[in-house]
Amino acid sequence: DWTMKAFREEAIERIRAQVGTGRVICGLSGGVDSAVAAVLIHEAIGDQLTCVFVDHGLLRAAEAEQVVTLFRDHYNIPLVHVQAQDLFIGALEGVSDPEVKRKTIGKLFIDVFDEEAKKIGGADFLAQGTLYPDVIESVSFTGGPSVTIKSHHNVGGLPERMKMKLVEPLRELFKDEVRVLGRELGLPDAFVGRHPFPGPGLAIRVPGEITREKLDILRKADAIYLEEIRNAGLYDEIWQAFAVLLPVKTVGVMGDARTYDHVCALRAVTSIDGMTADFYPFDMKFLGRVATRIINEVKGINRVTYDITSKPPGTIEWE
Ligand code: XMP
Repeated sequence: DWTMKAFREEAIERIRAQVGTGRVICGLSGGVDSAVAAVLIHEAIGDQLTCVFVDHGLLRAAEAEQVVTLFRDHYNIPLVHVQAQDLFIGALEGVSDPEVKRKTIGKLFIDVFDEEAKKIGGADFLAQGTLYPDVIESVSFTGGPSVTIKSHHNVGGLPERMKMKLVEPLRELFKDEVRVLGRELGLPDAFVGRHPFPGPGLAIRVPGEITREKLDILRKADAIYLEEIRNAGLYDEIWQAFAVLLPVKTVGVMGDARTYDHVCALRAVTSIDGMTADFYPFDMKFLGRVATRIINEVKGINRVTYDITSKPPGTIEWE
């Protein structure tokens, strides 16, 4: 794609002009956007870049290993893997309001980046994989009054006390363009094709207060759901698919015993840019198979529902 080739060249020039001889740290989330931003910036400024991957304890099964392997082994880009599970999960204890959860996580990310910047002798810039839709969705809802729908944690500038300036080379791009750019930069197809994953991670897929136990239950259900989607050959047709663990318990029966466990909601949508979305019309047999597996294999869930809300009026994530 020669348009992306041109974008790549221009972006590299812009990064060099902005950064000069400064030091940059780049937060990797495990998603496509931050990975593409990191590889692009590494191409522009090489060893002036250090990547930081924060494990906030809100990642999916096996996610941390995949990212670390890709960056250290495949790209040989310096990567700091921060184990911050206790910090984040501790701070989220007792917090159930979605915006407070998002803001708590966003603030802690900044604290961790600050800390890591100090450890490498200071950084002048913080790089992020912010996309165009992230920028507008955090500002206002299309067509409506200027209301914050959700505070995307990687948007909105930095606290005063933080001296780092932002480098956001993907700010003009949509997701499909970032994927083209990722391929252009040689990222593996499987990585470039990954569904988006939000910065606040599983915290916004456990409505209400999170606990380690709920996160563990959710990880298991989510992994089964995604495995079935891959096996059915549907992964690439879907923009995003994930499980949500509801703060509701219902009565069920297993063998001849009564159960009283959580409800798991499954979500899958098609979309071009995440700004609008349609629920994915799975066939009922597929959904039945996933529900049976989740209920049989995941202790703590005894009921599964499928979310048939499109966006608008729903958002993709539940919080
Ligand atoms: P919503 O739920 O607003 O999501 O319809 C639209 C897209 O954005 C993702 N999302 C986020 N991504 N930080 C991110 O990096 C965030 O705070 C965040 N919140 C939502 C969501 O997964 C979907 O792809």
